[in-house]
Amino acid sequence: MSDTAQAEAEGVKVAREYYDSDEAEGFYSNIWGGEDIHIGLYDETDDIRTASRKTVDHMAAKLGPIAGKRGIDLGAGYGGAARVLAAEHGAHVTCLNLSEVENERNRALTAAAGLSDKVDVVDGSYDAMPFEDESFDFAWSQDAILHAPDREAVLDEVARVLKPGGLFIHHDPMQADGPTDKNILQPIYDRIHLPDLGSIGFYRDALIARGFEEVDTEVLTHQLGKHYSRVREELLSRQKELGLPDSFVERMSAGLSHWVKGAASGNLTWAIMLYRKAG
Ligand SMILES: C[S@@+](CC[C@H](N)C(=O)[O-])C[C@H]1O[C@@H](n2cnc3c(N)ncnc32)[C@H](O)[C@@H]1O
Repeated sequence: MSDTAQAEAEGVKVAREYYDSDEAEGFYSNIWGGEDIHIGLYDETDDIRTASRKTVDHMAAKLGPIAGKRGIDLGAGYGGAARVLAAEHGAHVTCLNLSEVENERNRALTAAAGLSDKVDVVDGSYDAMPFEDESFDFAWSQDAILHAPDREAVLDEVARVLKPGGLFIHHDPMQADGPTDKNILQPIYDRIHLPDLGSIGFYRDALIARGFEEVDTEVLTHQLGKHYSRVREELLSRQKELGLPDSFVERMSAGLSHWVKGAASGNLTWAIMLYRKAG
């Protein structure tokens, strides 16, 4: 295996071990937002779960009618978005996710919602998807591609599995285009064990090079800062109730502060990006 391939395999392993861990499972299922583990939209609420669900609703509205269409959710977590797209919008959604712990919870929640015929849960990595070419009408991803050691490979796969004319909607915590402050971003790179993050310009260039057209990019960086500070507040206020050890809370709290600082200083950005594959 080449050095690059080995580093990439190692990066995927780090992401799986993190999301499979008991700590991450407890933190994301109790504090972050239950069935949704992504940045919320806080214009009308301070509640993390409500805000996180608003992101799903907002993206679904951008996607337009999807009844009877087949979609894939890359890095689907607990599958909250897939169940909304299936139950409220009539789509069939395949959840692809690296974490088998999350996938088990996803399958249980999906069965409990009576949606197992409309939501599939597949163990796998988004840089080598176990699907035929042109299998899906739309691809969806929320705050997951930041973990990819090779973002280009993920976008190759998105381009491969989408049908001509298919839509790709996603959001990701990114670094700003142009000069950035390494001192502010380095703790975030360390947290995800990668040398950098994507950017709006990176996704634009990479997708256009793969024959996509940009439909809409909505920059919502203030929501990133708000989200991480709300999660931090929730972590601190619920520590006793959830019996979380001081060492865990201190580490998570410091980690969350880096994201808040990154957004406030203009080094990080967050956007919902919608692209269409050439028809
Ligand atoms: C912040 S969570 C977001 C989960 C979900 N999209 C949501 O919004 O609720 C990031 C997700 O990316 C997944 N992930 C990380 N690396 C991955 C990979 N190589 N392939 C597939 N999923 C991956 C993790 O397992 C985790 O579920």
